[in-house]
Amino acid sequence: MADTAPAEWINYLYEIYFQGLAGETPDYPIDFELLHAGAKEQLDEGAYGYVAGAAGLESTLRANRRAFDRWEIWPRTMVDISERFTATEVLGTALPAPLLLAPVGVLSIVHERGEVEVAEGAASVGVPIVLSTAASNTIEDVADAMGEVPRWYQLYWPDDRELTKSFVQRAEEAGFEAIVVTVDTKLIGWRPVDLRTAYLPFLQGEGIANYTSDPVFRDAVEGDIDEDPQAAIGHWVNVFSDHSVDWDDLVWLRDETDLPIVLKGVLHPEDARLAQEHGADGIVVSNHGGRQVDGSVGALDVLPEIAEAVPEMTLLFDSGIRSGADIYKALCLGASAVLLGRPYVWGLGLGGADGVRHVLRTILAEFELTMALTGATRLEDLGPERLRPAPGYHGRD
Ligand code: FNR
Repeated sequence: MADTAPAEWINYLYEIYFQGLAGETPDYPIDFELLHAGAKEQLDEGAYGYVAGAAGLESTLRANRRAFDRWEIWPRTMVDISERFTATEVLGTALPAPLLLAPVGVLSIVHERGEVEVAEGAASVGVPIVLSTAASNTIEDVADAMGEVPRWYQLYWPDDRELTKSFVQRAEEAGFEAIVVTVDTKLIGWRPVDLRTAYLPFLQGEGIANYTSDPVFRDAVEGDIDEDPQAAIGHWVNVFSDHSVDWDDLVWLRDETDLPIVLKGVLHPEDARLAQEHGADGIVVSNHGGRQVDGSVGALDVLPEIAEAVPEMTLLFDSGIRSGADIYKALCLGASAVLLGRPYVWGLGLGGADGVRHVLRTILAEFELTMALTGATRLEDLGPERLRPAPGYHGRD
């Protein structure tokens, strides 16, 4: 059940200004560009490039931001906004705000405690995470770090049905509440930044903890994993991805679990319809932060068409969320919640769990303020009528 208490994210704003009276300013940058720049200074070149980089000419990364600029918020006024409500429920999971942390793999390259550190930061404000299959920490350890706060599990579909079942079963047993199947990464995209530094962390044994801790995976490796890490990495290369997966396999997965299934990486209305037809409960409209197909559509640009194609389906959104106003726009265009990606990774790099907590508190304070200042007090108030095409876009000038 969603929390029915009024939101209190805005308190962070007062907390910051009152610190000012004692001559203090926030420990971390407030806006995305400075967060990004600060993390760049802290991280080594390979890790920074892996997080910041995108596919090809990075035109899709830019398209993601351009898509937000195409819409402007059209504020209303003289509404009683003394209480605002941001809590919601998505596919049975209670959220304090319409936001989860996106699955970002291999976070040991950004912080030595990886996803456990992220989980602690997110749990401190009650925000659920989506844990990547390619995490540096195990499903079980991250579940422990989340405590009572809900979490979802993101599946990269391995080329081994027993291993697939084992991942799903472990997630169920560890209390994860949905399976998010990423469908845009059967192969890793063409990423010039990482190619230039010849950097793929998995080949150095980073980000494969869920595999090396899995009994099915361990049985399949020839030799002793603990003695010979190269044997594990070699086997990981072979089983990372089942390239043959299609809609029929989704029906198979549907039978394997009672948890809601969410397909992440859907960009076409027709695929949204097919996802629904084959048993998915929701989709994440996403282009993986521009990391997969350069030159492809900006994610927010296709959200309205997808919302129109599958009005009954639960839609989530990511790729380009950088501020509270962005969350607002995505919700107006049909998303029930959004996933936050790179911004929390920069927070992790700068301040571990504390940095993640800071990023979440800033973005949610701004989201709640945007609602209040536009005369919206409930998430149900957010619809397309609150946006207008920006001048110069959508045929207007
Ligand atoms: C990702 N993303 C991702 N997605 C996924 O399903 N499993 C994963 O393991 C990863 N790993 C990953 C690593 C890094 C470094 C990044 C930046 C992204 C994609 C992620 O979930 C999300 O779709 C994007 O981050 C959204 O784009 P923005 O908002 O971060 O630009």
